[in-house]
Amino acid sequence: MEKKIKVLIAGAAFCADLHMDGYERCRDIAEIVAICDKDISRVKSLIGKYRLQGVRSFDNYEKAIEETECDLVDICMPNFLHHDVAMAALRKGRHVIVEKPLATNAGDARAMIAAAGKAGKKIYYAEDWHFAPAINKALAIVEEGAIGKPLYIRAKESHSGSHSPFAQTIEYCGGGCMIHLGIHAISFILAFKNGRWTELMAMTSGGGNDNFLHKKMEGEDWSACMMKFDDGMSAIIEANYVTFGGMEDVIDIYGTKGCMHVDLTFSSPIKCFSVPGMRYTVEKAEVTTGWSSPAVDEKFNLGYVDEIRHFMECCLQNSEPRKGLRGVDGLEALEVVGLIYRSAKEGIRIVNDKL
Ligand SMILES: NC(=O)c1ccc[n+]([C@@H]2O[C@H](COP(=O)([O-])OP(=O)(O)OC[C@H]3O[C@@H](n4cnc5c(N)ncnc54)[C@H](O)[C@@H]3O)[C@@H](O)[C@H]2O)c1
Repeated sequence: MEKKIKVLIAGAAFCADLHMDGYERCRDIAEIVAICDKDISRVKSLIGKYRLQGVRSFDNYEKAIEETECDLVDICMPNFLHHDVAMAALRKGRHVIVEKPLATNAGDARAMIAAAGKAGKKIYYAEDWHFAPAINKALAIVEEGAIGKPLYIRAKESHSGSHSPFAQTIEYCGGGCMIHLGIHAISFILAFKNGRWTELMAMTSGGGNDNFLHKKMEGEDWSACMMKFDDGMSAIIEANYVTFGGMEDVIDIYGTKGCMHVDLTFSSPIKCFSVPGMRYTVEKAEVTTGWSSPAVDEKFNLGYVDEIRHFMECCLQNSEPRKGLRGVDGLEALEVVGLIYRSAKEGIRIVNDKL
């Protein structure tokens, strides 16, 4: 039998379910051997949902890493634990998948990259947008010159608020909506432009009482950043928690010979009007009654399925992932987030001194 990558999933809630769907579809090369969550009922329910067999359960990630024979630890835990769990896994000689953001601050991210280098192991930075079929189609259209030279890109993720209690404090999350949602758009644009941004300027709501809606959240619930690139292209990146009706993942590209609108979450071929409502329509939709666009294979279209397969294939070959998905790419995105917060706080334009 061909080798399969043995995986320990750390964290068994929302994000672990997104990844599990990907593992379910690459059983030919991946095998879940253990799942850990301090809430053991979540481990049990994930095992039940995917009818996993012979999987060990843990309620402590240190014990799980110590006792599990595996190739890789997939970290689906709150942002502030990415660093600690990755360090423990790398010390044990495991590759790691780390969800966005790579850490809550660039210093921790740098330490993780150094530890991976020392251990001779890989960090696979889980930015699902790089695998969204619609985004890759859009990039192919740009590549063939169909809209000319891109002049301006607007990219955003927004919804009405995170389900995770760990998104409420800066200590646990690293910030508000920009680090938690906007980082997808940042990573997309940095990969598209090879990181060659020249200047940025940002504004955010102030957090707490200075937020629009989320007064109990320490981080901002609205943020926007304008960026310039060395070839003259401009971008606006937005993230907010004041969007009702479901998650919006949108990219608009304006070029010298055309324009393009990419909508990852509301472009379902189904339009439905329901009086009683249905079980689910799209991520973060508050209600499912009335008109809706129920997502078709949402996890695949948001990129999670191909992301997991790519990481498993890289792991089998002990190779680096594609551009945008390495530890250094996660760090670069985090550095930009840090500068966005600094620009907003100090009211200043920031020039990229690395170019
Ligand atoms: N790529 C994406 O689009 C995407 C989507 C959702 C979440 N995420 C990321 O995934 C990560 C997890 O997010 P989530 O939405 O699943 O969070 P969540 O709050 O829903 O779940 C976190 C889980 O971690 C467990 N946990 C917390 N502390 C623990 C500890 N010390 N030991 C063991 N388990 C512990 C909790 O019990 C919980 O089950 C976050 O970093 C988030 O940014 C990414």
